[in-house]
Amino acid sequence: MRNTININDDIYWIGVNDRKTNLFENLWPIPKGVAYNSYIIKDEKIALIDTVDRSFMDDFIDNVDEISEGRDIDYLVINHMEPDHSGSIKAIIAKYPNIQIIGNKKTFPMLERFYGIKENIIEVKDGDTIDLGKHKLNFALIPMVHWPETMVTYESTTKTLFSGDAFGAFGTLDGGLFDYEVDLNWLEEEISRYYSNIVGKYGSPVQAALRKLEALEIKMICATHGPIWKEFIPQIIEKYKKWSTYSTEKGVVIAFASIYGHNEKLADFIARELVKNGIKNVKIFDVSKTHLSYIIDAIFKYRGVILGSSTYNGGMFPNMASLLHELKSLSLKNHAISTFGSHAWAGTSVKLLNKFAEESKWDIIAESCDVKCNPHDAEYEKCEIIAKEMAKHLNEID
Ligand code: FEO
Repeated sequence: MRNTININDDIYWIGVNDRKTNLFENLWPIPKGVAYNSYIIKDEKIALIDTVDRSFMDDFIDNVDEISEGRDIDYLVINHMEPDHSGSIKAIIAKYPNIQIIGNKKTFPMLERFYGIKENIIEVKDGDTIDLGKHKLNFALIPMVHWPETMVTYESTTKTLFSGDAFGAFGTLDGGLFDYEVDLNWLEEEISRYYSNIVGKYGSPVQAALRKLEALEIKMICATHGPIWKEFIPQIIEKYKKWSTYSTEKGVVIAFASIYGHNEKLADFIARELVKNGIKNVKIFDVSKTHLSYIIDAIFKYRGVILGSSTYNGGMFPNMASLLHELKSLSLKNHAISTFGSHAWAGTSVKLLNKFAEESKWDIIAESCDVKCNPHDAEYEKCEIIAKEMAKHLNEID
């Protein structure tokens, strides 16, 4: 009767769709919304796997009520404490005061600090099992995918992996729940953007988690966001292997900050020269127009990065500074970088871009181009060299 979906045997999806929030984590745009997935296993014992953002707690409690049909909930498994999943824990405890809360050593200090909860807890370690009757829950810790306390829960009878944030996606579930029911082309950017924006910093922990999960036979992956993976499990695992090793493709992202259009002219010129030199995938972004979420996602994909910026108030143009800050914190690898920029009287932006380039340890390609006011022939020639050298570098690697 309500929005709950039987997904396998005695397992139900009881999540919610969020189409109101503009910025996930109050930072990342989600024009296609996001789903907070929660699941319930109804057996001799009933187990709830994660909850949802507190804005949806009323609907969520209704969903739990509907499936439990008046029975008590025995266990709440907390795979991840970030409040988009733990936000309704207090409401669940208020409704089911005898519920036992399953987490690991790193879960419970957060549970106490966030919600003041420290009773009825069961601490599990890697490899521990809890028997629900027909279904058995096995726990595996996967720290830093995406917080230190994150773990996954494997239900061994149905071979279902409750994976927390791993394998998640932005985008609401518009009727389709399983991967074969949704338009994965429409969702593709939301899957990669979710990875690059949210989990992307933690490549090594993701690789460690993938190694740990390799031993499991997995028939279904139930993440906390996005579709349930069933028919395309090898494909999503392959994507995670690629992304977590920071593998990049042949192509160039040109991100520019331009106040009166001079850097944009150079961005267009460099792009044309790149294409003339055999680079097909060239993506230009104006940092004042496109949120850094999308620029970061493109940079995750392509090896070449060319950054151009105006000097502003004696320093870096603010939107470019934000992009650099985020790129620095992501510690991306396998990139080649060139820089350009402009100023009216005292140039700082190119110096700061070059400082970023050196600190990033990416391959630095060609001498940067710093323009006073409007680019003239000499500067176009410098940008031609930037494009040629970048194309040469990418063509040699390909
Ligand atoms: Fe969807 Fe890291 O929480």
